[in-house]
Amino acid sequence: MNKPVQAKPFLKWAGGKTQLLRELTARLPREIKESGVIKTYVEPFIGGGAFFFHLKSMFVIENACLVDINRELILGYKVVQQEPDALIACLSKLERDYLALGSQARRVFYYGIREQYNQQMNQFDYQSFNEDWIVRASYMIFLNKTCYNGLFRQNHKGEFNVPHGRYKKPKICDADNIRAVSRALAGVKLVCGDFTCSRPYIGPGTLGYFDPPYRPLTKTASFTTYNKDDFTDDDQIRLAHYFRELDEIGALLLLSNSDPKAVNADDSFLDSLYQGFTIDRVRAKRSINCNGRGRGLISELIVRNY
Ligand SMILES: C[S@@+](CC[C@H](N)C(=O)[O-])C[C@H]1O[C@@H](n2cnc3c(N)ncnc32)[C@H](O)[C@@H]1O
Repeated sequence: MNKPVQAKPFLKWAGGKTQLLRELTARLPREIKESGVIKTYVEPFIGGGAFFFHLKSMFVIENACLVDINRELILGYKVVQQEPDALIACLSKLERDYLALGSQARRVFYYGIREQYNQQMNQFDYQSFNEDWIVRASYMIFLNKTCYNGLFRQNHKGEFNVPHGRYKKPKICDADNIRAVSRALAGVKLVCGDFTCSRPYIGPGTLGYFDPPYRPLTKTASFTTYNKDDFTDDDQIRLAHYFRELDEIGALLLLSNSDPKAVNADDSFLDSLYQGFTIDRVRAKRSINCNGRGRGLISELIVRNY
């Protein structure tokens, strides 16, 4: 159950860490690199999970807990974990129906699914796993694979509001990867909530990786629209306190964030929050930005307490 599994993120997610995997892996604690074993792994802002799946392909992970505040995302993870075959059946039907259509009909199909998805939200039971979860997760993955730029963005009411994309032959149902992700998630604790919900799962020696929503590099770059709740500077401060609390109990902590100094050399906000820890600056390609301007190489901060 704990053996390495080759799987990759099943969703494209804003802030996805694929570009940074090498830099993060190089900074893992030495004892983990040497033993090939992670006893407990906790990731409180899981998003698409690029680093978790990467680690899962290389190491034995004995216990893991993945947290995110986005309930649609955690619903998707739970469905992939528990019902991969039923999900694959729904997705392959969506894929067949969609790919058979011409471009105008695809648009109509897309907006039809988007509307059903949004309408269902208000009376949906997010508490107890049932058959409707499988359909909802298949709609979410369908929308993620066929929307413009492949990101998951919600308005203040929580509605998915990304327009239709124009991919020629999007892979809507990657059955092999869904099965692999399901194996990678076997026995993993999945929690929907604030990052502090991870507290009961963290003890001495736990490896924690934090990838919070980026602090916008400019005032106009509204890059924090992952979901309807913005991550403010107060949240960044709350996170830094949490990081210090976990440091004191002996957890091994790794954190990434955008580097405010890349835009404004005088901006020491994150440097002062994480003063006393090791802070590295690395170059990373940013995958998604609302206006495309941030696509070049930018500087990224990696903080660790070991
Ligand atoms: C930068 S993304 C993580 C990207 C991820 N590392 C990846 O590879 O795709 C940040 C994530 O934090 C989540 N988030 C925002 N506020 C949160 C909070 N207060 N507690 C937990 N998760 C939160 C968002 O829903 C989003 O999925």
